[in-house]
Amino acid sequence: MKYTIGIDVGTSGTKTVLFDSLGKKQASHTVEYPLYQPKNGWAEQDPADWKNAVFETVRTVMEKSGVDKNDVVGIGISGQMHGLVMLDENDNILRPSIIWCDQRTGEECRDIENIIGRARLIEITANPALTGFTASKIMWVKKHEPEIYAKCAHILLPKDYIRLTLTGEYATEVSDASGMQLLDVPARKWSDEVLEKLGIDKKLLGRVYESPEITGYLTKEAAEKCALSEGTPVVGGAGDNAAAAVGEGIVSDGRAFTTIGTSGVVFAHTDNIEIDPAGRVHTFCCAVPGAWHVMGVTQAAGLSLRWIRDTVCTEEIHEAEKEGVDPYVVMDREAAEAPIGANRLLYLPYLMGERTPHLDPDCRGAFIGLSAMHTRGDMTRAVLEGVCYSLKDCLSVLDEMNVHPDDMKICGGGGKSKLWRKMLADVYGIPVTTIESDEGPALGVAILAMVGAGLYSTVKEACDTIVRAKETVLPDEKNTVRYAKFYDIYKGLYTHLKNDYKALAEL
Ligand code: XUL
Repeated sequence: MKYTIGIDVGTSGTKTVLFDSLGKKQASHTVEYPLYQPKNGWAEQDPADWKNAVFETVRTVMEKSGVDKNDVVGIGISGQMHGLVMLDENDNILRPSIIWCDQRTGEECRDIENIIGRARLIEITANPALTGFTASKIMWVKKHEPEIYAKCAHILLPKDYIRLTLTGEYATEVSDASGMQLLDVPARKWSDEVLEKLGIDKKLLGRVYESPEITGYLTKEAAEKCALSEGTPVVGGAGDNAAAAVGEGIVSDGRAFTTIGTSGVVFAHTDNIEIDPAGRVHTFCCAVPGAWHVMGVTQAAGLSLRWIRDTVCTEEIHEAEKEGVDPYVVMDREAAEAPIGANRLLYLPYLMGERTPHLDPDCRGAFIGLSAMHTRGDMTRAVLEGVCYSLKDCLSVLDEMNVHPDDMKICGGGGKSKLWRKMLADVYGIPVTTIESDEGPALGVAILAMVGAGLYSTVKEACDTIVRAKETVLPDEKNTVRYAKFYDIYKGLYTHLKNDYKALAEL
């Protein structure tokens, strides 16, 4: 039997999983690390934490599984998208990585659109200038930390920094590179026009590959740290969402999935490129060579639940310790006792600004309708529902673009909650299906590594063999009607609060 490894460099931690060539999990290990928020709206991580987590998790899965290292025929890397890693000419890390949910670059986004023109920018990069994307982060460093920019010799994305530590190659692949806003997304190559207009030297960027292509081989030093063989191939891999799509089998038209991770994503595969002229959803190259995807993003999905757990649910955490279960199990139980609409309490999940559909870095979270009768269970339910409404916003934009998925898979930590899955099926009004493996991005890039190693000839062939549906939750029409009433009110709230958010941000 041959094996491949999938590494997912996420925001809360790095998860590495070893699979056999039929996609059966052999061993898995996760190492967590901190997220730094030095100012309201800022978010940074230390790339050295990612690197250490990768070495530790790969070594551990090799030890746990007992698999012979010579039978590991490929490695795929996935990770949080958009993060800016800047290295000097000796590959030293020049500053903490400014990551995807950082919102400091509103001004730089306006500058980028003024320089290139919004319509032209959308034509080339398939997206408007966004605070989450890498280009505005580069422009921020250029403006605010010119001494660091002057020393910068390499710009990489989080998972591509890991590729460098594994193989010594400066490279990326089309799905993650799409989120830099420097790629010509229809043509799947760096845009000379954007780079030139923004004054970013192409030499700073890595070579662009398709996701299943081999980009380099494990160096002797990295092989020792990973307990693997020198020369093991490392394929392009994919940004976390494109990787999850492969892990969920979303590799042809009509298929879609929702992730509830730290962020929430509604993702649909498209064989032909589809761009929202209003820029409310992203269009990126996907991990299937020659195809794309459209996706809407809720900035704080799982993050909203984690926030309420850590700030409000101390008693639930203690209760969970007593019962020997995860605090989310206790929180779910309490939320399930509240009725649909959480006793008329609504939650806006804009803790880190919002992308789809508002594209507003200044908006923030809110509870609307809070009463002295509300319990923590009501608040938790309102958070779960608010995230579902925000995901429904994403699905509605895809609908307007004539992308109508007939199949909705679900993954991510939030997808493990039966209550949240049922809520989503009811709010969407369509069935929601889990798949047998819950390894999402790690499985996706392990599949890409199988294709790169020649175990399968195409990504679709591999997915058809490996990915199996598990459980479908059907919507309940009467619940869908009830949720729709709350969603209608939810939809109006952002518009009512928009100016106040702006005024607050300016204080
Ligand atoms: C996608 C995005 C997030 C990150 C974090 O555009 O910003 O989904 O990839 O996981």
